[in-house]
Amino acid sequence: MARAKRAAPPSTGRVPGHPRHGKRWYGHGLPYLKLGPLPGHLIVIEGTDGVGRSTQIELLRSWLEVEGYAVSNTGWARSPLLSDTINEAMAGHELNVLTFSLLYAADFADRLEHQIIPALRAGFVVIADRYMYTVFARNTVMGADPAWTRQVFGVAFVPDLVLYLDVDVEHLVPRVLAGKGMDYWESGMHLALGSDIFDSFERYQRRLLDEYDRLADEFGFLRVDARRGIDEIQGDLRTHIAEYLARARSAPPAAQGPGVPGLPASESG
Ligand SMILES: Nc1ncnc2c1ncn2[C@@H]1O[C@H](COP(=O)(O)OP(=O)(O)OP(=O)(O)O)[C@@H](O)[C@H]1O
Ligand SMILES: [Mg+2]
Repeated sequence: MARAKRAAPPSTGRVPGHPRHGKRWYGHGLPYLKLGPLPGHLIVIEGTDGVGRSTQIELLRSWLEVEGYAVSNTGWARSPLLSDTINEAMAGHELNVLTFSLLYAADFADRLEHQIIPALRAGFVVIADRYMYTVFARNTVMGADPAWTRQVFGVAFVPDLVLYLDVDVEHLVPRVLAGKGMDYWESGMHLALGSDIFDSFERYQRRLLDEYDRLADEFGFLRVDARRGIDEIQGDLRTHIAEYLARARSAPPAAQGPGVPGLPASESG
């Protein structure tokens, strides 16, 4: 990608987790939940605001269904429990970073328990439109303590695969202008970074993209060059997912250990 690549920090962010269900918690998990086997796959599409995630996920969904997979989509602020509250809070301009994070964490925990885990249990491919990494990036840019954010999202599973739509501001701006336009939060207007919304959008998104870039190294995202056309991006996403699914099918459970990129987590941790 256009930005200079930093040296990767040693940590993959993968931590030992629950011994039996084939997925690992990122942190403390939901300790009250009894998990049986979870044969499904949790695939995350990460990327900044307006990069084209929804467009790609719709195409992935139909492709996977034709390939014979049952697919479930999930994304931020879609839990029945919290979606109205989050949308109301975001309609105003008063939300601070801690409230924002806690609302999103509650939304996430609700979707995890009532949607993601049941779908994984039933063998679905779950495609997540963003994941905890987006909150990590935003919170760091907004000045929250990264260790606190990570602790809050200890309820999450480590996904099986994270595909990152990697873009730069120069390609992002026309895409957002041609689409739904620049909104208050996605332009970082709450941080008063620029003289107008356009200026603020550029500055805020540059900071976010730098942070995603760092997280991509830390957590081992597979980067897909999202500066290109929709079909080329889709082609790369399908290649990565097909390779992952083939490896997951052929790997005996004993070989599915921590540190094997793109493979389901070990059950022995
Ligand atoms: N590769 C691409 N090249 C040019 N335009 C694109 C590309 N991908 C998507 N678009 C267009 O960019 C706009 C945003 O796309 P989309 O809604 O899929 O993004 P998103 O990442 O889901 O946005 P949001 O963060 O708002 O959910 C749409 O108008 C879409 O048609
Ligand atoms: Mg979208």
